[in-house]
Amino acid sequence: MLLSLVLPITVANAALAAYTFDPLQHLAGITPYFEPSDPPLNPAPPQGCNATRAAYLVRHAAIWANDFDYEEFIDPFVSKLQNTTVDWKRAGPLAFLSTWKTPIENEDIEELTQVGRQEAFTLGVSVGQRYPSFKAPGKVWTSTAERTEKSAQSFIEGLVTRSNETELVSVSEGEEEGADSLTPYEGCPAYSSSAGSEQSAQYQELYTKPIIERFHALAPSFNFTPNDIVGMQELCGYETVIRGSSPFCSPEVFSPNDWLGFEYTNDIQYHFNTGYGNEVSGAIGFPWLNATAGLLTSDDTNSSDAQDIYVSFTHREQLPVVLVALGLFNNSAFSGGDDINATMPLDAQNYRRAWKSSHIIPFLANVAIEKLSCDSYGFGVGEHYRVLVNQSPQPLPGCTDGPGESCSRDAFQKFVQSREETLGGFGEKCGVDYSNSTDILSIYGVS
Ligand SMILES: *[C@@H]1O[C@H](CO)[C@@H](O)[C@H](O)[C@H]1NC(C)=O
Ligand SMILES: *[C@@H]1O[C@H](CO)[C@@H](O)[C@H](O)[C@H]1NC(C)=O
Ligand SMILES: *[C@@H]1O[C@H](CO)[C@@H](O)[C@H](O)[C@H]1NC(C)=O
Ligand SMILES: *[C@@H]1O[C@H](CO)[C@@H](O)[C@H](O)[C@H]1NC(C)=O
Ligand SMILES: *[C@@H]1O[C@H](CO)[C@@H](O)[C@H](O)[C@H]1NC(C)=O
Ligand SMILES: *[C@@H]1O[C@H](CO)[C@@H](O)[C@H](O)[C@H]1NC(C)=O
Ligand SMILES: *[C@@H]1O[C@H](CO)[C@@H](O)[C@H](O)[C@H]1NC(C)=O
Ligand SMILES: *[C@@H]1O[C@H](CO)[C@@H](O)[C@H](O)[C@H]1NC(C)=O
Repeated sequence: MLLSLVLPITVANAALAAYTFDPLQHLAGITPYFEPSDPPLNPAPPQGCNATRAAYLVRHAAIWANDFDYEEFIDPFVSKLQNTTVDWKRAGPLAFLSTWKTPIENEDIEELTQVGRQEAFTLGVSVGQRYPSFKAPGKVWTSTAERTEKSAQSFIEGLVTRSNETELVSVSEGEEEGADSLTPYEGCPAYSSSAGSEQSAQYQELYTKPIIERFHALAPSFNFTPNDIVGMQELCGYETVIRGSSPFCSPEVFSPNDWLGFEYTNDIQYHFNTGYGNEVSGAIGFPWLNATAGLLTSDDTNSSDAQDIYVSFTHREQLPVVLVALGLFNNSAFSGGDDINATMPLDAQNYRRAWKSSHIIPFLANVAIEKLSCDSYGFGVGEHYRVLVNQSPQPLPGCTDGPGESCSRDAFQKFVQSREETLGGFGEKCGVDYSNSTDILSIYGVS
């Protein structure tokens, strides 16, 4: 009764809805965790199906600041601010700069924040609730950085009731591990961490130009640069996570267009760095897909190593390369063509792109593959597989013969095999120059 009373009011409001925009959902790699419902499918198992096993690959939670962001953008802006003679009180929307102090000190760089710890714990609780019949995992894996280890530990505390019974296994981030780590890009000479900076710098120049002129009119002697603008926009994200809010997020300071320009600049960077615009991305992501497919399809449930759920924590680079290995968020999909770089022009925004880093790699971003046991209308009885990214189901290209965006065991195994044929060969594609490399991820110990 209450609902039917409330509903018409909601509908009436919706008809008059004002335009709203949340910059915190457009901050690319420093977006606080959110589940964008992209696409807006129900994350519950398809009708007639139960999840019987799952694997999660998770980016660490929110940190104080990334080393590169701090050195390149934030610290130069903050130093300039400390040394300026500008009278900010007369600078309109920038007046807050007369009293603003940075929340980030040098010793905090790369450290997990309290909010990050809390969000990792909450994700653990949510994943536990999603799979109430799963046994607590004997092991959770993490790369060795403090921020990934601490994120994993908080996640475990949220997931299980006796956290001392789940071992946290640390996996080296070394540069000679081949594909056998959670950071295989480190062992791939063909991968360069600066790939994409040249291209993204072009769009950065373009979108910051009108902002610089606007700010120049308010404080001419500050000589705002494109990097100052990026630093200020990054502070919106980092300061919000640290203090709970930030004046840099105010709509008086940056407009929605300014935020979309920031986001697209980052999307260009990730496209050429760890996305479809880098020929080696798929080869770096494939070993995790292959090893995970092995764990999930294995019939050996008696082994003492077998788990219902396999969770691994890593860094931002690893999520997009795995998505490329899976063929997801491909701007060219359904286009009938594959001129992938043309889908990310450097002089105009492709607003309809699938490749949005804010949706792909917010802090705590996660890619899951689920094994399903189904008895469902139209599909009968069988074993199926499905992928979730930040909780939204994602149909795999050419692998959709099951209920609710899942595909059959047979089709899934063929899918993985065909991805290996086109993308596989870590050592060869990476041009590995050390003698003991491997193409296989074997940290999970079972297959
Ligand atoms: C601070 O400002 C002075 C005067 O404008 C300038 O000479 C000096 O190089 C600046 N220092 C820094 C660290 O920017
Ligand atoms: C974990 O802690 C609980 C409660 O403190 C204890 O009963 C249990 O024996 C511990 N398990 C292990 C494997 O240490
Ligand atoms: C290769 O050798 C290096 C140096 O001894 C070692 O750190 C690394 O783990 C080895 N890689 C593999 C894949 O065994
Ligand atoms: C996209 O551009 C990158 C960087 O120039 C290049 O390495 C890559 O081969 C291009 N991809 C395609 C499919 O043309
Ligand atoms: C893929 O996984 C299978 C086991 O499921 C293993 O035999 C094979 O060597 C793996 N290949 C690669 C390239 O990871
Ligand atoms: C697992 O154990 C059960 C009971 O011990 C046995 O019947 C079954 O054959 C075993 N399965 C495998 C794959 O080893
Ligand atoms: C992206 O989609 C296009 C069009 O379907 C396809 O040709 C291409 O192989 C896909 N790229 C990858 C890496 O899966
Ligand atoms: C799924 O789980 C429910 C509840 O345990 C059970 O009734 C149902 O038979 C299961 N379905 C399949 C296909 O395993």
